[in-house]
Amino acid sequence: VRTYDIATIPGDGIGVDVTLEARRVLDAAAERHGFALRWTEFDYSCERYSTTGAMMPEDGVATLSRFDSILLGAVGFPGVPDHVSLWGLLIPLRRAFSQYVNLRPVRLLPGTTSVLAGRTADELEMVIVRENSEGEYSTLGGRHNQGQPGEFVLQESVFTRVGVERIIRYAFELARTRSRRVCSATKSNGIIHTMPFWDEIFELVAAEYPDVAAEQCHIDALAARMVQQPDRLDVVVASNLFGDILSDLAAAVTGGLGMAPSGNINPERTHPSMFEAVHGSAPDIAGKGIANPVAQILAGAMMLDHLGESEAARSVDGAVEKVLSEGRVATPDLGGTATTEDLGTAISEAL
Ligand code: NAD
Ligand code: IPM
Ligand code: MN
Repeated sequence: VRTYDIATIPGDGIGVDVTLEARRVLDAAAERHGFALRWTEFDYSCERYSTTGAMMPEDGVATLSRFDSILLGAVGFPGVPDHVSLWGLLIPLRRAFSQYVNLRPVRLLPGTTSVLAGRTADELEMVIVRENSEGEYSTLGGRHNQGQPGEFVLQESVFTRVGVERIIRYAFELARTRSRRVCSATKSNGIIHTMPFWDEIFELVAAEYPDVAAEQCHIDALAARMVQQPDRLDVVVASNLFGDILSDLAAAVTGGLGMAPSGNINPERTHPSMFEAVHGSAPDIAGKGIANPVAQILAGAMMLDHLGESEAARSVDGAVEKVLSEGRVATPDLGGTATTEDLGTAISEAL
């Protein structure tokens, strides 16, 4: 039978619980659709950092590079500074595997408790195409005059022509398979160097796609619009930091962080892509067994789609929708009392 080699890094906090449920659902889908997933689990996490001093071993990247895909839970936990845990695992993996697209589809799922509950699903379906390899996430800069009254820090952003152009082009290509609308998040009225450069490249690429409606929106106004008129958006392309913020916002308006999946995509397929929920390790509910596993399960469906198993991916999406619309099994964030395992089991059974 067709077999895919999948590396899984459950990570920290609720990442561990939701990844377990995603594995169970994906295995059930694989069995139904005649293929197999061969899982290898890695303990890369803050716990590992606490005992060994490193989030992952030195050959971590080389080890993971042999897999067809990676399913990541979440990393980061109180006790280890976030810049240490995230720059020790998540961010280096995204860069080493040239996963320069962070694809974050959101749609209004049934059973949502969002501010937009009541609108119909077809009114709201968008995808955030987040630049995932450069931009505001940079190690350049430093701290000066430490301890003195004039103390300051500098943080430099890096926007390369190649990096900006490829993410914008990806967004336009994606728009051609959807509603042919792209909105670019910008801030050229307040940021002098990077965003005007981003806008300039956006306009050059947009000119190559006369069949796609292109618009530019300041990030502040776009945030408001995402709440008040989200149905007017489809493909939203954004820099690393803007895309990060917009994706939690988009998740919130379409059902909450427990429902939003994400794919770190290497479009050229020279390296594995990595799938994860948009949310983090949620220390406030970790260990309670009540995290919503839907985001991670949908991330798993994105992984199946990426592997070429689109029918299986669609059936996972369908099972999630069925269980959510019945509303019988719901975790606390959805207004219910079910556990992570209850909801995972219900989705597996709905397959
Ligand atoms: P978070 O996403 O972990 O949590 C934000 C809020 O949403 C919390 O109240 C949490 O309980 C809730 N929430 C998140 N996912 C949920 C789910 N599946 N079901 C129910 N409720 C859910 O964000 P945070 O608190 O800012 O970050 C916590 C840690 O996670 C930090 O260390 C952060 O750096 C890290 N983080 C990691 C990733 C990743 O690995 N990809 C992503 C985001 C944050
Ligand atoms: C995400 C997360 C990460 C990011 C953090 C944890 C570094 O918020 O995947 O959205 O900002 O990329
Ligand atoms: Mn984020």
